[in-house]
Amino acid sequence: MDREALEKGARQILLTNLRQGVAEWNGQEYSFVCPSLTGYPFQWFWDSCFHAIALLHLDPEQAKAELRTLMSGALPNGFMPHIIFWEMEKQRDFLSRNIVGQTDPHYSSTMQPPIIAYAVERVYQATGDEEFKAMALPVLVNFYRWLRDTRDPDNDGLIAVIQPEEAGTDCSPKYDEALGLGELSNQGFVSALRKIYQAYEPLRGDDQKILSADLFHFEDVLVNSIYVMGMRSLVRLLGDSTESAEFNCEAKRTLDALLEKCWDEEVGAFFDLSGIAEKPVRVVTISSLMPLILEDLPRPIVERLVNDWLSSPDHFWTPYPLPSVPASNPKFMPGNPHGFIWRGPSWINTNWFLYHALLNHGYKELADIIATKSIECVEKSGFREYYNPYTAEGLGAKDFGWSTLILDF
Ligand code: GLC
Repeated sequence: MDREALEKGARQILLTNLRQGVAEWNGQEYSFVCPSLTGYPFQWFWDSCFHAIALLHLDPEQAKAELRTLMSGALPNGFMPHIIFWEMEKQRDFLSRNIVGQTDPHYSSTMQPPIIAYAVERVYQATGDEEFKAMALPVLVNFYRWLRDTRDPDNDGLIAVIQPEEAGTDCSPKYDEALGLGELSNQGFVSALRKIYQAYEPLRGDDQKILSADLFHFEDVLVNSIYVMGMRSLVRLLGDSTESAEFNCEAKRTLDALLEKCWDEEVGAFFDLSGIAEKPVRVVTISSLMPLILEDLPRPIVERLVNDWLSSPDHFWTPYPLPSVPASNPKFMPGNPHGFIWRGPSWINTNWFLYHALLNHGYKELADIIATKSIECVEKSGFREYYNPYTAEGLGAKDFGWSTLILDF
């Protein structure tokens, strides 16, 4: 498939999944791409950022509208929800199949990986639109301050998530122990999650109380790597100012903490910290590689991640890399997970992150293979949610929005 055909396919998905209108509940105009019309018909936080980046290659005005709509959902305290239910009439059906933490029926009370400042920076770089930047900056400053002030109770620079969906890698095996997962299936996951939701019920909306309850408290490596990436974009957007110095300092603190607390020299990978006690969760998954997205990660660490894990056929270097869990993990499930996601298949968004990371660290050959193989997945199977890492068979939702990120490889 040549570039033109890929663009045509991507345009088709982004147009089909485009939702536009005026919300009945707040009178606000919305214009965004939903991840999938069938499975995910609302606005998801990190999906929207990926959609905006893909849209830059097709329709920069729509990229702006996507992010404007997302930012219009920010609350006065800075918080930005991981789902906004713009079209409420579809909600009942969705909630009959999924659980969402809420204090308001129109949005979730949980977050997702904070990549938004990077998406805004890309849109600003591509369009030079000063008005867009001026509108975005106060929202971003409030949001990253909210993360720091609310989600880092031990003040070590690492922010914590309160349930797996906040990290965007819902059923990753790294959460099994903390969730007390009995049955290894989506039903098992949902029932373990329900217990946590029940305990959170009286506390919903008070994240500090939720974090002190210590029921699910993860200083997640993927989330914190993206947090640093986002703050660095924010610093560049803010230019020379006291606010930019504030986030520069915070980004440094977070990276230092990742290196000091999450890096495991013996295994050669980064591990999340579970609970207030910060127990390292020694399960290698795609998030163990995510600090590679930081260009100043020390070289010996970069080399170990790439040589020992990422490019090793025993682990992540499958015929269609990069699987969400290395092939060496006994729980690795390369095939159809029936909703029990992030336990084997390869995803285009993590490939996109690591493709750019590898390029920045000088691994052009590996990066090019990831790009070629990701495009091959789309050619063979269409824009799917995730792919079998051995066969490129398309799995999960069809016509899935963020797989259009291949335009940005
Ligand atoms: C799944 C993914 C999450 C994504 C959402 C919408 O829940 O795990 O990362 O944001 O679907 O696509």
